[in-house]
Amino acid sequence: MIDDNRFEVFLFSAAVFGVAVGIGAIFDRPELKSVTKITYTKDIKPLVMKRCMPCHDGSLPWPPNFTKYKSAFSHHKRMEFRAWKRRTMPPGGVYITDDERTLIKEWSDQGAPE
Ligand code: HEC
Repeated sequence: MIDDNRFEVFLFSAAVFGVAVGIGAIFDRPELKSVTKITYTKDIKPLVMKRCMPCHDGSLPWPPNFTKYKSAFSHHKRMEFRAWKRRTMPPGGVYITDDERTLIKEWSDQGAPE
């Protein structure tokens, strides 16, 4: 009798574990993650204020101003190219994470929405 109960508990735990692993697998799929909409206002502006300042604050005609959506939008392909593809921005020594580089690329891929 006791053994039977233990077996049921075991089966129940195994089922819970299986469901948890299943859910984990869904949330680990990168193709589902990238469905999240990335916007300039929510994601890119805070990143730019952290990693591209003071150089891209628009105080000079060049380099381009990334603190305004319109200007960032018109340079989004170059932002992707320099920060994600070529990794030449920010210039040597200025800290940025790989996730932040990828965020710029995905924002650009999504058409750089505001
Ligand atoms: C320490 C200053 C500095 C920081 C920080 C910096 N940049 Fe730049 N950036 C420059 C300078 C100077 C230029 C112009 C010279 C050049 O193109 O290399 C430039 C040019 C650019 C250009 C235009 C050139 C082109 O190829 O069209 C892009 C795009 C760019 N940076 C992206 C970024 C991004 C994105 C960040 C932040 C993640 C960043 N930069 C951070 C100094 C900086």
